[in-house]
Amino acid sequence: MDINLSNKKDKKACVVTFGCQQNEADSEKIKGVLVSMGYGITTEEFLSECSVIIMNTCAIREHAELKAFSRTGQLKHYKKTNKELLIGICGCMVEQEHRAEYIKKSFPYVDFLFGTHSLHKFPEILQNALKTRKRQFLREPEIADARKKINLVEDMPIYRENKFKANVSVMYGCNNFCSYCIVPYVRGRERSRESKNILTEIKELVADGCKDITLLGQNVNSYKSYQDGEYNFTELLTDIEAVEGDYWIRFITSHPKDVPDELIKLMGRSDKLANHFHLPIQSGSNRILSLMNRGYTKEYYFELIDKLRNNVKDISVTTDIIVGFPTETDEDFDETMNIIETVEFDNIFPFIYSKRKNTLAEKMEDDIPKEIKNNRFDRLIKTQNEISLKKNKEYEGKTVRVLVESRYKHADNMPDMQQDKIKMAGRTSTHKLVLFDGNDTQTGAFIDVKINEGRLAFLEGELLNNQ
Ligand code: SAH
Ligand code: SF4
Ligand code: F3S
Repeated sequence: MDINLSNKKDKKACVVTFGCQQNEADSEKIKGVLVSMGYGITTEEFLSECSVIIMNTCAIREHAELKAFSRTGQLKHYKKTNKELLIGICGCMVEQEHRAEYIKKSFPYVDFLFGTHSLHKFPEILQNALKTRKRQFLREPEIADARKKINLVEDMPIYRENKFKANVSVMYGCNNFCSYCIVPYVRGRERSRESKNILTEIKELVADGCKDITLLGQNVNSYKSYQDGEYNFTELLTDIEAVEGDYWIRFITSHPKDVPDELIKLMGRSDKLANHFHLPIQSGSNRILSLMNRGYTKEYYFELIDKLRNNVKDISVTTDIIVGFPTETDEDFDETMNIIETVEFDNIFPFIYSKRKNTLAEKMEDDIPKEIKNNRFDRLIKTQNEISLKKNKEYEGKTVRVLVESRYKHADNMPDMQQDKIKMAGRTSTHKLVLFDGNDTQTGAFIDVKINEGRLAFLEGELLNNQ
């Protein structure tokens, strides 16, 4: 990527990210470009000192959009005190025509706008905005042919804050058109990266000391590289797994329709593939699953979980649920509760249905009253909390391998704990948060921790021997 280096070493830039890890990964590229152009990257506390502020938006639910609007509104006063400041809005929300128009009209102090398909044009957009001081709007049509390499830009620099943990995008977009979901409209069709580029990136990360690599894609397990002759996700994982080193590989998010037996077997025999599967089910009612266009039944999903648990020892399983989808009856919801109680997930991520413009479900009446949606949501959380606690208690007395991430930041909010004993936080391969008495030198290392207590949101333990 040809980026003009300008002398802006003293200039600061901030990228505020909403939404999922895919957006986080895009923000790392935007930051990479900003660094190449001489900006120092800073955090939100220092917005008043920034020369460039970018909001990378999400459109998954109405709440996400409202949050982005409200934050953009707050930027107005920085513009008043800093005439040099450039404000940009990008991400999924911008790929919706009506939202892009709204931003243009309602926020006249926003200097540039670009959608997810134009991410690679960011250097050009910023340079034009700097040079001309005129507003720049860029939304390009997506390229619908997955066999073409267009739109898979490989040479954007990536700014990674954490040396030990990294996200690696392996595919983009989604072909599934679940009836409630905006993603296929704002991220376009599925496009997979060539394996050689992914492997080069992973080898570099591992050589650089990275210990926890998460492969990203809206449907990560539907990965298919045409340049590699219909090479699939299990083949990709097999090749990644062969890269020497001591590290974990994760992947998110998977669709239940694309979990072949070979993938499950590979997870069962691999030390590098983390023992965690995030497998969104969305609903326990076959009628609702069909209206959602999910393409599987609850029976199919049950079988899949059985296979996973039979083949991968101690695997943790998490899921996403939507409550209040149009026409969801008490009986439908009871079936979802039944799934939660039967499967016993390690954790669930419940969401209240939010109508999205242009999706298939938009034509259905959003007929479930707010109180019922909230009530169903609360019932899910309550039941899951009991299950999560029970699952975490199963760890008591066991020794687990933990990748140490950082000092635990919320120790002050834990009055019932001796703060001086809870210093460090890390994760298990099963993605459980572990708190233990350690020190900063352990950051980024694998260590063994004996678990003394399983709590609702974490495991508390102690270091084994003199590690
Ligand atoms: N590609 C992933 C994640 C999509 S977004 C997948 O297929 O699972 C993450 C979660 O947001 C989804 O799993 C779903 O539970 C939720 N979600 C998506 N659209 C939604 C909507 N319109 N209203 C409420 N929740 C939604
Ligand atoms: Fe949305 Fe469904 Fe695609 Fe996931 S699989 S991104 S929920 S359309
Ligand atoms: Fe949101 Fe876009 Fe991710 S809509 S959830 S940021 S793909």
